Amino acid sequence: MQTETELTLSPQEKFELWRYPKQTTHSTLRAWDASDLYLVNELKSENKKELNMLIINDSFGAISCMLADIHHLSWYNDSKVAALALDQNLACNQIDLNKIQRLTTLTSDELITKNYHKIIIKLPKSIAYLEFILTLIHQAGLPNCDVLLAGKASDFSPNIIKKLKSLYDDVIPSRIVKKSRYISLSGQKSQTLQFNYWQPNKEKFNDLITDSAPNVFSRGKLDIGGRFLADNLPSIAEHAHILDLGCGNGLLGLAILKQCPTVNVDFYDESAMAIESAQHNCLLNEFNLDQTRFIQDDCAKTAQDTHYDLIVCNPPFHQLNAITDHIAEQMFTDAYRILKPGGELRIVGNRHLAYQQKLMAIFGQCDPITSNQKFVILSAIKN
Ligand SMILES: C[S@@+](CC[C@H](N)C(=O)[O-])C[C@H]1O[C@@H](n2cnc3c(N)ncnc32)[C@H](O)[C@@H]1O
Repeated sequence: MQTETELTLSPQEKFELWRYPKQTTHSTLRAWDASDLYLVNELKSENKKELNMLIINDSFGAISCMLADIHHLSWYNDSKVAALALDQNLACNQIDLNKIQRLTTLTSDELITKNYHKIIIKLPKSIAYLEFILTLIHQAGLPNCDVLLAGKASDFSPNIIKKLKSLYDDVIPSRIVKKSRYISLSGQKSQTLQFNYWQPNKEKFNDLITDSAPNVFSRGKLDIGGRFLADNLPSIAEHAHILDLGCGNGLLGLAILKQCPTVNVDFYDESAMAIESAQHNCLLNEFNLDQTRFIQDDCAKTAQDTHYDLIVCNPPFHQLNAITDHIAEQMFTDAYRILKPGGELRIVGNRHLAYQQKLMAIFGQCDPITSNQKFVILSAIKN
């Protein structure tokens, strides 16, 4: 299998575009999709370069690279991996990294100040996240701004269309080309919008209260895999250094703090909203923030070698819509590097995923702790 990385837009415009991290084998997944191309071709046919444009949710920076000749280009994404992919692809195509202004947060004030002419949104997986973005744009009330929403045609559910029609008078879908479409939104309705940024999770674990920001995994309910791991934590030594890797709303780290309040817990996730949620939940449950750190990172790349006594992890097995084990593998490899000798990595995984073999290859051993019909808990100790 060979990864397809060359994209020809026109005889003069060729791009080399990679997903992040670069996967040279075992993957045919591309860094762009048909809706990116459809949208970019339409925008280029308008031939307006004097635009002030914001691109939201461009997964690997493909749209941004292809539109880099537009005068003022801003970019926002909740994901660290997307930010790293953008840098990688700009560099690969010899585009100045400073050409694109990165927004670290999205607020309606920011949108008003920048006074964008066009906002492009790649349809996110989470409807709550889309609603959050559209609410901010709506609150900013930009009268001369076109909003375009692009994605796979089948992902524009009736619920999404209903939401769009409640916000805009004109919701105009493009033709479907290669199973993709974009929708132009204009004529913003004059209504006051409310969006609940923090969604409480329906159930509590061990009396812990947890809220989630819009783009956080399993928003509104505790993940059953994460819950199973929280039920099967090892005994924790006083003052230990612990890492909740891929923390989401922070349930695992919170469960550990509850069990042993003297420990130090670091929360790592690639999503800024996940990190924000973990911090919010520590405050909500009145834990001492002096014992915690909240770090947005790709796996645990920036974490210090041989630092942790225990790492807990409920690894993702998707990157966007693609099923993959490369993130779990990177998390296990990072965990081995940053555990102290004798330190433990404890994970939960679906029974059908081959995590045991991966842990055996990295740690040299791995023990099953328990399992149920769906999940298995595994423990690997660093020698
Ligand atoms: C299955 S969820 C687990 C969330 C939480 N720990 C729980 O048990 O409910 C996996 C988490 O990994 C995060 N993640 C995905 N890719 C990542 C990466 N490359 N680096 C760090 N975190 C990542 C996701 O944002 C998500 O919060």
